[in-house]
Amino acid sequence: MKDIKFFDAANNVPLEMHKVRTVQKLNLISPDARLDALTEAGNNTFLLQNADVFLDMLTDSGVNAMSDNQVAAMMQADDSYAGSATFTRLYNKLFEIFGMKYFLPAHQGRACENILAQVYVGPLKDKKPLVPMNYHFTTTKAHIGLNGGAVAELYAPEAVKVNSSHPFKGELDPDRLEKFIKENGADRIAFVRIESGTNLIGGQPHSLKNLKAIKKICEKYGKYLVYDASLLADNLYFIKVREPEYKDASIRQIAREIADNCDIIYFSARKLGCARGGGMLTNSVKIYDDLKNLVPLFEGFMTYGGMSVREMEAMAVGLEETMDYDMISQGPLFIDYMVKELDKKGVPVITPGGGLGCHLNAMKFVDHIPQSQYPAGALGSALFLVSAVRGMERGTISEERKADGSETFAELELLRLALPRRVFTLSQVKYAIDRICWLYENRKLVGGLEFYEEPPVLRFFLGKLKPVGDWQQKLLAKFKKDFGE
Ligand code: F0G
Repeated sequence: MKDIKFFDAANNVPLEMHKVRTVQKLNLISPDARLDALTEAGNNTFLLQNADVFLDMLTDSGVNAMSDNQVAAMMQADDSYAGSATFTRLYNKLFEIFGMKYFLPAHQGRACENILAQVYVGPLKDKKPLVPMNYHFTTTKAHIGLNGGAVAELYAPEAVKVNSSHPFKGELDPDRLEKFIKENGADRIAFVRIESGTNLIGGQPHSLKNLKAIKKICEKYGKYLVYDASLLADNLYFIKVREPEYKDASIRQIAREIADNCDIIYFSARKLGCARGGGMLTNSVKIYDDLKNLVPLFEGFMTYGGMSVREMEAMAVGLEETMDYDMISQGPLFIDYMVKELDKKGVPVITPGGGLGCHLNAMKFVDHIPQSQYPAGALGSALFLVSAVRGMERGTISEERKADGSETFAELELLRLALPRRVFTLSQVKYAIDRICWLYENRKLVGGLEFYEEPPVLRFFLGKLKPVGDWQQKLLAKFKKDFGE
């Protein structure tokens, strides 16, 4: 996105640098039909049918808009099990961008996490392995846990401060890391992980300065630095616009400098590259040898790793497009617009705006709902009822219960409204803002939720909940009265 100034400064908005050439018709079902759909889905937005959703802000995973060049590239896919020319094209693009010699393909991000955890966490099981990181992601933590390890989130205090002007809230604190390694012993550390654009704390980035400081500590203690690059596109943009030292650097230079400081990069291409797939990169033949046998076992042969060749072609082009500032700036600029508009109206949101999406602070939005009744989940249900906008709970429902059955209360109760790149128009974003503002005015009508079906792992995907009391009927009645629907 170019920084275009409008003649009337009051009209300044982010300006799309693409035109729409393929569209999908959307449905906006009635408020009563939304209540039926939500009840059927057990108040879990993951279980809604997309036909019942107007704006799907659940995630950006695998739902980013593809470019004409991506779609065109899919037509030249070379469909062979082994040694496909498509794989070579993807490999060459990854090598050109990251400068890493070895690429191990996988069907998506969590598949990489499975392999990394099996190879580097599992064998340390008897020592109670630890993985220090800036912040966990749900699937990352689950795989480390399944292999007998535990995550240690060593962020700076700023990370979980909801409102802040800190440009890099997603950093791993170097002092805490060094202290942690000394206290627990380097032999218990499986590896150190940094997540680009930290998903669960509001898409907040790290700086390159921070990454370099962490790398130094990893080298000192002989530990691999593993980098989750799923949200790299946003983080690249933020380094360019927020880290003064890199304001004149190209996106390509920044990407290379990140890679030069990591031992392993893995990613979900459902986010990075706007396709569907993933993989791991390294420059070390030792690491490559450690990992390679599990790829054919869990994913597929080394030249496709569970991915369709069409997606691999789209990914190669998508990665190249990720080096384009105009393309990667749209997500963060739309998010910034949404965050600022809501903030102006007093609606509690995570500031500063990060990547991935706009995050409503449910702990404050519905501060009358106790954490044991899942404020972020309840807010997600309420927003769907009044708007048919689908968000994602990122709070206590997304945590797992402790061994004794008690809840792990999340540090932040967020409702994430993802803005997949190039998918929504600004008028759609304005509609979402309008309905969120109405809901904020009427927030006292929102009540809590309780589980009636609760899976033991990753319960947020398939769990079902019901409202505590009849608040949903009351909320809808007020909505219909105000809007005459
Ligand atoms: N790491 C991060 C930072 C992620 O955001 C995700 C997925 C993964 C790993 C796992 O990748 O889905 O391809 O297996 N995040 C999605 C989301 C699911 O909606 O935020 P995957």
